[in-house]
Amino acid sequence: MSAKKPKILVTREVFDETLDYLRQHCEVTDNQGDQPYAPEALGRALADCDGLMCCLTDRVDAALLAAAPNLKVAANIAVGYNNVDVPACTARGVMVTNTPGVLDDSTADLAWALMLGTARRITEVERRVRSGEWTGWRLKQWLGIDVHHATLGIVGMGRIGQAIARRAAGFDMKVIYHNRKPIAPELERRCNAAYVSFDELLAQSDFIVLQVPYSPATHHLIAAAQLAKMKPSAILINSTRGGVVDDAALVAALKNGTLRGAGLDVYENEPKLHPEFLKLDNVALAPHIGSSTEATRQAMAMLAAQNLVAALRGEAPPNLVNREMRPEPRP
Ligand code: DGY
Repeated sequence: MSAKKPKILVTREVFDETLDYLRQHCEVTDNQGDQPYAPEALGRALADCDGLMCCLTDRVDAALLAAAPNLKVAANIAVGYNNVDVPACTARGVMVTNTPGVLDDSTADLAWALMLGTARRITEVERRVRSGEWTGWRLKQWLGIDVHHATLGIVGMGRIGQAIARRAAGFDMKVIYHNRKPIAPELERRCNAAYVSFDELLAQSDFIVLQVPYSPATHHLIAAAQLAKMKPSAILINSTRGGVVDDAALVAALKNGTLRGAGLDVYENEPKLHPEFLKLDNVALAPHIGSSTEATRQAMAMLAAQNLVAALRGEAPPNLVNREMRPEPRP
C-alpha cells in the first residue's frame, strides 16, 4: 500500500476490533448506524472508494461497479456471495472475497437447533405455554417425533453439510447425502454418510437439510414436485438461502399435510415472509441467524477485513472467489 491510505466503505455495523484493524490500513467510512444503503446511495458512497466491505443485504452488480471506478475489492462478510455479480466484478477487475470455514460449526449447530426444535415442536409449545394453554401433563400432549435413529438426508455436502452429518453420530442416525459428486471416501467415513441420488434422498429421509449455495441452478431446487416425493412424515430444514425452496409450494405442503414440518432460517424475499408461514404451527421460523454467534460473527468480520486489506496491498486475499483475479506473486 502507498503512504496514502486507500479509501474503503463498510456498509453495515461491524465490531470495534474490525474497525480498529481496518483503520490501521485504510481510510474508513463506516455505517455503525446500520441502516442498509439503498442501491443509489451505495453508489454515491462508494464513488471514490478503493475497497468495499459488504454483506448479503448489499447488491454488488454492474450498476454499482459503474458508480465506483476506483474499486479493487468487494469483501463480503458471508460465505455465500449470491448478492455479488462475480462475472461483472471480474470483467471490471474487482476481486471478490468471502468468509468460508469460520462459520461451519455455528451454522451446523443452527441447522440442528431447527431440526430438534421442529421435531419436538419447541417454538409451538413455547407459544402455548406463554398463552396459558398448558393446564397440566397429558399422555398424548403435543407429541413430536424422534430424531434419534431416524434417517437424515443432507443436500449439499460441503464443509457445513459435513459438520451437520458428523453431529448425527450422537443421535445414532442413518445419514445419506446428495451432492454434485460424491465426497472423498475418507470424508464419507468421517461423516458416516452414504451417497444417494436426489430422488432417493427425498424418498428415504425423515429429516432433509438443505446446504447448497443459492444460484440459478439451485433456484427452487425444492418445489411442489420434490415436496411430493418426500415422506408425509418428513421435516424439511432450510438454513442455507431463500430461493432454494419455493416457499409457496412449501406452505401448500405444510397446510395440506403432505409434509409434517419445516424449520426455516432463510426465505425468498427475506425479511418479508410468505404470510401463511406466520399462521402455521408446524413451521419453526428463525431470522437468518445461521452463523450468528458472537465468536463466529466476529471471526467472519475479521476475515473479511483481512481479505480486503490483502487485496488492497496487491496480495492474494486468503478467500478469493474469482481466482482468475489472483495477483501475480511479487518478485
Ligand atoms: C453466510 O455466510 O452466507 C451466511 O448466510 C451469513 O450469515
